[in-house]
Amino acid sequence: MDIQRIIDAITAEMTAAQHRGKAADYIPALARVDPAQFGIAVVMADGRVFTAGDARTCFSIQSISKVFALSMALGKVGADLWTRVGREPSGSAFNSVVQLEHEGGIPRNPFINAGAIVVSDVVLGGGEPRETIGDILRFLRYLADDDEVQIDQEVASSEAETGFRNIALANYMKSFGNMHNVESALKVYFHQCALSMTCLQLAMAGRYLVHDGKHPGTGRQVVTAIRARRINALMLTCGHYDGSGEFAFRVGIPGKSGVGGGIIAIVPGEASIAVWSPGLNDRGNSLLGSLALERLSEATGWSVF
Ligand code: DON
Repeated sequence: MDIQRIIDAITAEMTAAQHRGKAADYIPALARVDPAQFGIAVVMADGRVFTAGDARTCFSIQSISKVFALSMALGKVGADLWTRVGREPSGSAFNSVVQLEHEGGIPRNPFINAGAIVVSDVVLGGGEPRETIGDILRFLRYLADDDEVQIDQEVASSEAETGFRNIALANYMKSFGNMHNVESALKVYFHQCALSMTCLQLAMAGRYLVHDGKHPGTGRQVVTAIRARRINALMLTCGHYDGSGEFAFRVGIPGKSGVGGGIIAIVPGEASIAVWSPGLNDRGNSLLGSLALERLSEATGWSVF
């Protein structure tokens, strides 16, 4: 299979596309990104790397960070995490508050904002936000095999300044006893969302989910094999919020999106993929990124079904 030819053709189609969606504008730094960009990186299980378009341009990974934070939280508290966060698709927007009232302040899953904020509280574990943010950054550098991964401080500050909904979600969950340290956990959450990475770095970082939880470079388990499967299952069922069913239907592999326009997608045993195009669809997922992954799964036959 000629992956390079396939992604070159996809990139040509995406670069020429007229309808590109709309970049997130609730964070000023995201609104400024040029919507004409498109990048894709595919890292195969055997280590071969393919890139096309703007695969080496940094973008804000936003909610894609929730996959890595979840992996850290599971490493820290194991299955106890599931007493504080559910594993069901929400069918609601990423920042929705509605289900919490009737569900005891337990978020539906770790990929909606409420769930990710609880995960940040767990990763923090009563420690200092500064150290936890450093741990997350080091974790991503280790996964990506790249010490250049950074946190964009402007985006992190912007998140904090505009994050009224997230602040409300955290305090609301605190009222149910499901948050320990609201302020520090939010600091961690805002910084993890502001991780700035390229498609190539992100596809490299996703390799452990291709290899049953093992970092293929070091041979060490990042998460256990069963956890890797479960993280992939959650990405498939919850990774695109109220667009998760549509993504599973059209693409058929686990994926996690972010409002920066990135998507990470995992084909277990085959490949780790990252795509990026800043314009979003009406569910807050990258419009051309989703389309590109649909084209890629059609051309390669990659699917978990
Ligand atoms: O919580 C927020 O508002 C963002 N920083 C992250 C949200 C996000 O990426 C949602 N994804 N599509």
